[in-house]
This record gives sequence, C-alpha cells and structure tokens, in this order.
Amino acid sequence: MGFISICFKNLHFPNKCPEVIFFRYLVTSALPYVNSRPHLGHLIGSLLPPDIYVRFLRLRGEDAIYICGTDEHGTATEIAAEKAGVTPEEWCARMHKLHKEDYEWFEIEFTNFGRTSSKSNHELTQYIFKKNYEKGYIFEKETEQWYCNKCKRFLPDRYVKATCPYCGAETNADQCDSCGKLLEPHELIEPRCVICGSKPELKQSKHLFLDLPKFAPKLKQWISSNKHWSQNVRNWALSLCDNLKPRCITRDLKWGVKVPLKGYEDKVFYVWFDAPIGYIAITKDWNEKEWHDWWTSKETRLIHFLGKDNIPFHTIIFPAMLMGTEEFILPYNIIAAEYLNYEGKKFSKSKGIGVTLEDARNLPYPPDYWRYALVQMAPETHDSDFTWKGFQKAIDELADVLGNFVHRSFILTKKFFNSEVPKPEAFTDADKKLIEEIEKAPGYVAEELSKGHLREASKRAMELVREANAYLNQQEPWKNEGVRANTLYLCLNVCRSAAILFEPFMPAFSSQVWAYLNLDEDKKWEDAGKLLLKPGHKINESKPIFKKIGDDEIEKWEKQFSGEKEAKPMISYDEFAKLDLRVAQIKHVEKVEGADKLLKIVLDVGELGERTVAAGLAPYYKPEELVGKNVVYLANLQPRKLRGVLSQGMILAGEKDNKVKLLECDLEPGAKVL
Ligand code: MF3
Ligand code: ZN
Repeated sequence: MGFISICFKNLHFPNKCPEVIFFRYLVTSALPYVNSRPHLGHLIGSLLPPDIYVRFLRLRGEDAIYICGTDEHGTATEIAAEKAGVTPEEWCARMHKLHKEDYEWFEIEFTNFGRTSSKSNHELTQYIFKKNYEKGYIFEKETEQWYCNKCKRFLPDRYVKATCPYCGAETNADQCDSCGKLLEPHELIEPRCVICGSKPELKQSKHLFLDLPKFAPKLKQWISSNKHWSQNVRNWALSLCDNLKPRCITRDLKWGVKVPLKGYEDKVFYVWFDAPIGYIAITKDWNEKEWHDWWTSKETRLIHFLGKDNIPFHTIIFPAMLMGTEEFILPYNIIAAEYLNYEGKKFSKSKGIGVTLEDARNLPYPPDYWRYALVQMAPETHDSDFTWKGFQKAIDELADVLGNFVHRSFILTKKFFNSEVPKPEAFTDADKKLIEEIEKAPGYVAEELSKGHLREASKRAMELVREANAYLNQQEPWKNEGVRANTLYLCLNVCRSAAILFEPFMPAFSSQVWAYLNLDEDKKWEDAGKLLLKPGHKINESKPIFKKIGDDEIEKWEKQFSGEKEAKPMISYDEFAKLDLRVAQIKHVEKVEGADKLLKIVLDVGELGERTVAAGLAPYYKPEELVGKNVVYLANLQPRKLRGVLSQGMILAGEKDNKVKLLECDLEPGAKVL
C-alpha cells in the first residue's frame, strides 16, 4: 500500500506538473456486539490492529481517523436484555459504557466510539435503504420464516438453533459460526426455538430483499481489481460472487431500525443491514461537517479490520448497499483476522474459559504487556492460541531484549558521561553496520505494518534492538574507553528509534522512553532512521520498564481461567459459626468519587450501631433504590480501604448472568442471621 501516489494525469504533456494525491485514511474496526463483554479474542481480532495501524499512519504524518462503536440491534441484544431483566435500551446503554471503558483501558484510541442505536444511524439506514429501493435494488417477497407456536412469535436469527446444512455444526439461523456460510431459514436442519426449545414451523411473512444478483458483475469486477487485498479475502469474496442469492434485510422484531415502508410497521431492518451503516453514522456523530466528504471523496481510503466471519458482509453485502446509493465510496482494503482460541479451547463465557478484558484489567499487568503479547500470538494467517506461556514468553522478550537494552544504555551514560549524550568520533565498521540497521528499520517495519502484518512488523522493530544489544555486548564500552562515546551515542539513538517504532504497539513504553530521553518534540516515523539525539543533550534517569513474570504466577492464571471451577472445600460448622451475620437497614447511599462501580453505604445494624461499607453495586442499583432495604450484613469481616472509603464488612448479594440482587431479610436491624 503506497501512502502518497503520484498520478501522472498528463503523461502526454510532461511539462505539466504531476498531480499529487494525498490520501487520507478512514479506518474501522468491526463494531462489537453488546450481548456480552469483550474478551482477548475480540481485542486482537478486530479492536487492537486498527489502533496500531492508525497510530502508525499518524506517525507518518497521514490524516487518519479510527471509527468504531457498539453494534446494538438484533436478536442477540434482545435475548441478553431479556435474560438480565432490563429493556434493550437499558442493556445497550450499560454495555456501551462497559465496552468503551474496556477498550480505553487498553489504550485503544478511537476518533469516535459511537452506537448503532443512535438517531443518525436510524436516519442514515433509512436513507440508504430508500436510495437502494428507488433504484430497484430491493424487492418484496412473501417468504417462509420460522414461527414458534408456543411462544406465538417469529424466530429470526439467534432465536433459532439448528444444524448447519453445509458443515453439520450447531448454528444460528443467519450465519454459521463454524463454516461462515450465510443461511436462509428453509435450509436449516432440525431447528429449535431458543426460548422454549420446541420445534418451530415455517410460516408466510412478507419481507424485503437486497437483490445481490443484480450487483454480481459489478462486485466481481471491483473485487478482481483490488490487487492489494490479501489472497484469502479476495478469493473468498470472489467465490461468494459466483453464487449470490437475494438477501433478506428485514426481521419480525421490535428492537431495531424501523422500515420506512407501508405494511412494515411491525418489522425492523436486519441487524447486519444497519450495523455497517453505523460506520458512516459514527463518523457523522463525530464530525457533522466533514463526515460526508470523508465518505464520498476519492481521496479517502476506507479500511475495514474484522474477524473472518465478517468477510461476506464487508466484501459483498455492505459494498453492494453502498454501490446502490451511487454516492458513497467502497472499501479500499479489508483486513481479516482468523480466530483466537484460548489454551486450545474456544473462549466461553458460560463455561468460564478464557480471559475477558474485564478480567485482564484486574490482573497486575499494564496495557502494553497485553498489546505486545497479543500481537505475538495474533491469528493473522491462521487460527492461533492465547496461552499463558506465550504471554510469559512475550514479556520475557520485552524485559530481556528491549527493557534491558534501554536500561543499560542509560546506566552506562550516567556512569561515564554524567547523563549527557556523548560526542562520537569517526565511526568504525561496527558502528557503521549498526547505523545502517537504524536507517533501514523504519522502512522495514512500515512495509509490514502497511499490509496489516503486525506480528512481523513488531519482530522487525525488535530485530533492530537485538542487533543493538549484540553490538553493545561486543563493544563492551564499560571496559573499552576508546569505543565508549561512539557506542553509547549510537545506543541512545537506538532507544530513540525504538520509542518511535514501538509506539503503535506500546504507547506507554514509547512515552516513557521519550521522557527518559528528555524529549518533547513530536515523534515522526522517518526520524526513527536518523541519529537525531545531539551530543551534549542531557537525559534523565531511567528505571527498568518491563518485569518478567514468574512461573508461579502463570500457573495461577492458567488454573483460574481454565473453566474448571474448583469446588470450594468443605468447612466445619465451627468455621461457619465464626461469621457474624446480621440484618442491617440501609440508611444512606452515595457514589464513590472516581470509582464507577462502588457505592458508599451507611447501615443501621441495631445494637452494633452504624457501619459503613463500600459495595460494587452501582451498575445494578440506583442509590435511592437501596435506601430503606433490610439486607444481610457480614459484621466481622476485617475492615479494608476501597478507594478511600473504609469498608467495615460487607453486604451479601446473589449473582447470575450479569444479574445481581441483594439478599433481603424482613427482620429488625441487628437481628442475627443463623
Ligand atoms: N457485531 C458484528 C460482530 O461482532 C460486527 C459488525 S461489523 C459492522 O461480528 F460492520 F456491521 F458494523
Ligand atoms: Zn418457542
């Protein structure tokens, strides 16, 4: 992928100036569903790669935006909200916030993180629908949909479980998770209603269809012309073109974008119709003035990052919808990841297998560790595994190679040159060899990054540091005074280069080294190949940046996230009897500053007097809902400080499937619970 293309429009008039096109980049991540909290697979499958990519583009001085948000409509949301006992609106608002916090913790920097349930998305979806409808790309057809007689409702998509007619795996009704094939209702084998388990029947209902066969020749021509796509994505897309069927774009549901057509009052658009339009709407919600230009100008390169199951939607269905408008640009590239498994198994929330982003945030490792380790284990060319051993290995590498090199360079400079960049003399052959490596590095790393090959790119950046480490070992500047100035001058410059080359992967590392180097200028990609640290420049003290992870820790996490819940050990009655459980009345509740989940709760515990506890109930109760409740309180738990609040004991609650309810007891405050 070139960054600036020079287009010689006037080849026949060479005396005229060539026209230079500066591209700008509109980068997206597949919009995550809100039916659950994301896990590591989501992070490396679609969220993190575009972040790395956009950070890189910006270092190159490109104009690049990163658009993402939550994908909120559809049956998965309805089902999740129903399970939690809240409305879809409430569910989505809650999940949107949690998703956003999760990603921000990992330093994913969005230009805008929006929502598909926004007003702008509803409007744009209806607009794009109308354009396609007017141009004859959408038709109506009486079709058969699954209907559950017991539940008295149609069962679209995830309301049906069935056997996939193509691969035999258990599947939803719209797309098979195992083989990725798009499915139509009548094809399903042994369908079952997910609500009641009974066998549904096919019933007539009117629906709208996107006439994909009409787009086939154009799609095929466009896909074949995209020589810069990966083989895998291109071939998959081309093979889909050969067998295009009209795609149903409406559903018998309430939660979604209304269909602006008579007779469709009880229907909404299929979630996959409005979700990709969300990319446009979220751009609009970011910049009301410029969004249209971004989405229609030839200078925009639209690049989608996504997991492989999303390929049909981004190479065929969404491009067809866009073509149909004759207004918007088509994607320039589609970069698809394979699946990440967890220690050889599928991530499974219900079985407790794998690490969610929420889990990861609570472990004692900073975001950089996750970002770097996930890139090393990324499913770029085939499915891969997250393993704790792999995590440990990646961090070992950071500590042994990168961290160690930076720290040694700083310590030696402090010791021998009073923390000033030394002045080099004539360069030796060994010096020149390293200088050559420095000069080549930004180009090498960029070559891989621009193709979306993040793992290879990070390896190439690390290669420079390895070379520099070997050079430092070989020069032994602590012994050889003659080479000391040249060696440390170059090593410090490699630290500067590494801060730039690793910025997309590890932004915190990068700013840390920048601060140690006492620099405040903006980082520029090309500068990673230059010796810009000037002799005499004063540098700061450094501390080791990375810390290796012990085997015992790794074993602990392996156990904790394996899904094999350890049964709690038997206890004796005497042990149980040590608990001083009481009924307590909630007197007063307030939010705890700086902690989203915590509430500070003041209790009346009868004869024990007033007690204060900090409880993680904010996502489940509003403060005013709690006041007056008589709850169960553990009075003799060792007090501890949570976010500045001294918590004296705890109140008890039950939890299942994201639902949390306090245990209540209808007795006076102070009563003993036996
Ligand atoms: N929510 C979908 C998924 O997680 C992705 C939607 S991408 C969009 O598989 F293009 F529709 F937004
Ligand atoms: Zn049913």
